[in-house]
Amino acid sequence: MHTSPAKLQHAIPTATHPPVTTVPALECRALRKSYGHGRVVLAHLDFALAAGEYVAVMGDSGVGKSTLLNLIAGLDAADGGDILIDGVTMSSLDDDAATLLRRQKLGFIFQAFHVLPHLTLQQNVALPLLLNDAAPERALELLAAVGLGGRGGDFPRQLSGGEMQRVAIARALVHRPKLILADEPTGNLDPDTAHEVLTLLRKEIKANGASAIMVTHSLAAAASADRILVMTSDGLHPLQVGA
Ligand SMILES: Nc1ncnc2c1ncn2[C@@H]1O[C@H](COP(=O)(O)OP(=O)(O)O)[C@@H](O)[C@H]1O
Ligand SMILES: [Mg+2]
Repeated sequence: MHTSPAKLQHAIPTATHPPVTTVPALECRALRKSYGHGRVVLAHLDFALAAGEYVAVMGDSGVGKSTLLNLIAGLDAADGGDILIDGVTMSSLDDDAATLLRRQKLGFIFQAFHVLPHLTLQQNVALPLLLNDAAPERALELLAAVGLGGRGGDFPRQLSGGEMQRVAIARALVHRPKLILADEPTGNLDPDTAHEVLTLLRKEIKANGASAIMVTHSLAAAASADRILVMTSDGLHPLQVGA
């Protein structure tokens, strides 16, 4: 029996054609933040970061880059708007659930390292694993991945700045977070060490299929990301070259 193309079309089960829906790793919707008496830092910020995407954020000092990362990290509270991490609206969660989700899904790297001086390198890197009730062994793998294999028993005081930042990167990535936030991660490093740290950071982000936002003042550093955004008082915009 002849079957018309229209009928064939109709016979194709819809399950073989799922809609292509990818949840962004991060969304900020109409995000607002002010400090003190009317110092508006974020007026109405809309921003989406695709899953697997690595963006650099540049912009003048004081424009609100660290404020944005702190809001995403839950270190500070927004005045309004929404932050969605992996599709979950953070304001819909109670404090414990929000803390747990951030602990599992986020990794942070700060300019000042925040490496704890009284813990060994292995203990520093293992912190996110312990917080997530995961086995601490992976800390040694990550130390090796950042070029500090065999140094797990050393203390931070025995490290150079570049080595310290590599420990901070290992710690941020050890629990395979989906979203990495880095605030001027190479700000305290010489250019050669910065290059080494950025290469490592990108490699680890891509190897884990993670998304990342890196705030930086350095165009060379920003160039290691997939795209560059500039923050101004009215939001995040693509970098305009030669404008
Ligand atoms: N905890 C705070 N209390 C008051 N003002 C703050 C606080 N944190 C940041 N600010 C102000 O908010 C603005 C943005 O700061 P920040 O996000 O650190 O800028 P950036 O990281 O882009 O240099 C600045 O004017 C800063 O002084
Ligand atoms: Mg800052």
